[in-house]
Amino acid sequence: MCTGTVSSQSTILLGLGHGKFTLVSDKNQKMNINEQNELKITVVGLGYVGLPLALALARKFSVIGYDADPMRISELMANKDRTGEVSAAKLLDTPIKFVSELSKTPSCDLFIVAVPTPIDDKNKPNLHALEKASREVGGCLSLGSVVVYESTVFPGATEDICGPILEEASGLNCGEDFYLGYSPERINPGDKDHAIDSVTKVVAGQTQEVTKLLASVYGTVIPAGIYVAPNIRTAEAAKVIENAQRDINIAFINEVTMIFHHLGLNTEDVLAAARTKWNFLDFRPGLVGGHCIGVDPYYLAYAAEKEEFKPEIILAGRRINDGMARYLAEEIDRLVVDRSRLLVMGLTFKENVSDLRNSQVIEVVRILMKKNHYVHVFDPVASSDDVKAICGLSLLPKLDSEERFDAVIGAVAHQEICDIPLESIKNLIKPRGVLVDVKQVWPSIKATETLRVWRL
Ligand SMILES: NC(=O)c1ccc[n+]([C@@H]2O[C@H](COP(=O)([O-])OP(=O)(O)OC[C@H]3O[C@@H](n4cnc5c(N)ncnc54)[C@H](O)[C@@H]3O)[C@@H](O)[C@H]2O)c1
Repeated sequence: MCTGTVSSQSTILLGLGHGKFTLVSDKNQKMNINEQNELKITVVGLGYVGLPLALALARKFSVIGYDADPMRISELMANKDRTGEVSAAKLLDTPIKFVSELSKTPSCDLFIVAVPTPIDDKNKPNLHALEKASREVGGCLSLGSVVVYESTVFPGATEDICGPILEEASGLNCGEDFYLGYSPERINPGDKDHAIDSVTKVVAGQTQEVTKLLASVYGTVIPAGIYVAPNIRTAEAAKVIENAQRDINIAFINEVTMIFHHLGLNTEDVLAAARTKWNFLDFRPGLVGGHCIGVDPYYLAYAAEKEEFKPEIILAGRRINDGMARYLAEEIDRLVVDRSRLLVMGLTFKENVSDLRNSQVIEVVRILMKKNHYVHVFDPVASSDDVKAICGLSLLPKLDSEERFDAVIGAVAHQEICDIPLESIKNLIKPRGVLVDVKQVWPSIKATETLRVWRL
């Protein structure tokens, strides 16, 4: 593992052998890159991953930020980041040149691709954005360019899918005229403790020189340090198993939670007791949504199935977690009478982010509405326009102290929801109504004669 700079004694030619840059000597490599500020980087895809990365790189290098969505570019140029990850002050300060057309940008040495890699309706990898971005980048490559992928993919995608597209679009040879790299992103949006600066960055290049270049470039802007993986496929695999492992662990806890409900046991009490063992893994039950944990295991399963290996536990975990929205909606339905007025608090896929993609809370709301309940949704973090566009729901603009509901469902533990006084929460519920606490939002609220409490 090397941190910050490359430890090898060899020399490295930025631009990789075609004379674009001066030869940079080993021990001063990091300093030279910084001082010369010669490396030109284009970040392709400026979402949750690409934008914070572009900002970090722009502290030391010349950076162009390209996004295919012109609206995103206009917003960024107006210092607005709708993901909430980067402040207006930081955007105002950054020297990044934001563009919505890649072909019009000046030539550049290093491309970093961070576009979405979702799944299709059959849970197979949807590589449309990745392939399109590769074609566009391919059209801009020159001798010695390096293309690094940060999008989450299955092992082999960078070299077997992106490489040939880049070759075709550029007319250049991969591994001779231009080079590939992979560096998985591990940030945790909404979590200031696990942002780009504070998480070790895994890098791998197609050749040793590329790996060293990447370790140096990323090491210059990521104080947490660099881990050099032996090759691109290993780095790709490491990323997908990180999220698949998390998915499986949550699925296990979700399964035992359902068992405890059948046995009449309180899940949190059982987990609190089990956690006192030194090697018990501390996972909590819940809805698994978003575009990483609920998606990446399918990428791994796809890679396995391509090799005619049938994964068991990975897909079992997905089945359990994908079934949790229905389980929860049916439990809520059992607790209330027909046509109840329900208040769901929190709609995004996780706490303190505005991201609604694959939010399983939306699925819970849909099922409850199909069961003819009147479902109201309050989410102080989500954008009401996005909610309308994604699921056709109107968010309550604020909580009305005169309103009463048959059930209040704490679905997402946004800080702003946790900060609402407990008495105000209890006052929202009709006598003999029920508080459904999915995420331990209100652990201290206890059942009384007039209040029922159900926890996942
Ligand atoms: N968000 C996370 O927490 C997270 C964490 C680790 C890894 N990842 C992975 O990183 C990748 C990006 O995720 P994200 O959350 O930043 O996505 P995002 O949707 O927030 O951002 C992607 C951006 O790429 C743009 N885009 C789409 N196609 C493009 C193209 N062809 N050319 C240029 N721009 C294009 C979109 O307009 C969007 O602004 C995905 O593979 C994801 O799995 C995400």
